[in-house]
Amino acid sequence: MATTAAQDPSAQVAPAAAAAQPLLEVRDLKTHFPIYGGILRRRVGTVFAVDGVSLTVNRGEKFGLVGESGCGKTTFGRTILRLEKATSGSVFMDGQDVMALKRDDLKRMRRRMQLIFQDPYGSLNPRMPVSDIIGEGLLAQADYENGWLGRANRDKTVGDYLEAVGLRRDYSRRYAHEFSGGQRQRIGIARALALGPEFIVCDEPVSALDVSIQSQILNLLSDLRTEFNLTYLFIAHNLSVVQYFCDRIGVMYLGKLVEMAETDSLYDHPRHPYTVALLSAIPVPDPRVRKKRLVLRGDVPSPANPPSGCRFHTRCWLRERLGNPEQCSTVEPPLADMGGGQFSACHFADKVSVEAADEAATRQSSTRTVGATA
Ligand SMILES: Nc1ncnc2c1ncn2[C@@H]1O[C@H](COP(=O)(O)OP(=O)(O)O)[C@@H](O)[C@H]1O
Ligand code: SF4
Ligand SMILES: [Mg+2]
Repeated sequence: MATTAAQDPSAQVAPAAAAAQPLLEVRDLKTHFPIYGGILRRRVGTVFAVDGVSLTVNRGEKFGLVGESGCGKTTFGRTILRLEKATSGSVFMDGQDVMALKRDDLKRMRRRMQLIFQDPYGSLNPRMPVSDIIGEGLLAQADYENGWLGRANRDKTVGDYLEAVGLRRDYSRRYAHEFSGGQRQRIGIARALALGPEFIVCDEPVSALDVSIQSQILNLLSDLRTEFNLTYLFIAHNLSVVQYFCDRIGVMYLGKLVEMAETDSLYDHPRHPYTVALLSAIPVPDPRVRKKRLVLRGDVPSPANPPSGCRFHTRCWLRERLGNPEQCSTVEPPLADMGGGQFSACHFADKVSVEAADEAATRQSSTRTVGATA
């Protein structure tokens, strides 16, 4: 379905961010992977990993991208960094068309856009000392201007950034296996920072860490953003991590954005049933508070064969509550402007409310109880 200018979220920003300058602009980005099968390895299908995502990240913003595993978050992040080939769509970084960049220009752009990986164990080469893990990227970008052609200068930069992430300079001589998970993630952050980027894709940087370490790393990322004028695309698989970290959040489901809003609006007044379900899964720290939890039925459908109409219709509690309207399974809902910088891709966004979700959760739990006793 064609998206009108009024519905195009990349053309609009929230009021609070209206004065801000867009740094990253992504329009209708698609990344599809071919599936090959049979003895002749013929193409037998397509994984619609990212299937038409538009968003804008403003300079200095911390934009969260959230959704269940397999919904296309990593592919989206890697595609905008040109680490994955886009099928179609465009990406502009500071007004420059990233998809059109060739050789030297692309190399220069790589310095400005960096990635922090999810897995602090797998992403650091165990056979290299930290000086080489971080220095390798510097060497690849070395020229007479930045001085990184010389080992001494590279080592100085490595030491500076180890200190910036709260580690000792002399750790540069040690190997990755000598560090804890949190320390390794700091090394990963130093590696990304050392090239002097403006924009960093943080791909689930705390998911593999203990809860106590997670907040240290989030605080570090927050401080570094201020110190180095950074802009983040912060990827997470649930809404609990991003609540206090991100300014705005986009919720992804099966390759598409289903909701986008400023963080407070998203948590206070979610406008998509999927967001409501993700919010209901956040644990409440107080054991005396009993929270009604909405259970999403079944697994996430395969992105190689996404459901017709609204992709969420096979698991949607609101559709069920509304008596399974046909529109949900036949017409794809556009990401429509709800006002106040909030966008939702649901035909019945006006019916999403805390009361409706509570009732649906109560009904679900009574059905489960009856099922259990039957
Ligand atoms: N290189 C690839 N080739 C084929 N399929 C891929 C590739 N990378 C990712 N996928 C598939 O694309 C979908 C989205 O994956 P991913 O972007 O890793 O999701 P997420 O980060 O949200 O967990 C998944 O079904 C995954 O299996
Ligand atoms: S369009 Fe229908 S199936 Fe999709 S989220 Fe809205 S109510 Fe649910
Ligand atoms: Mg991922």
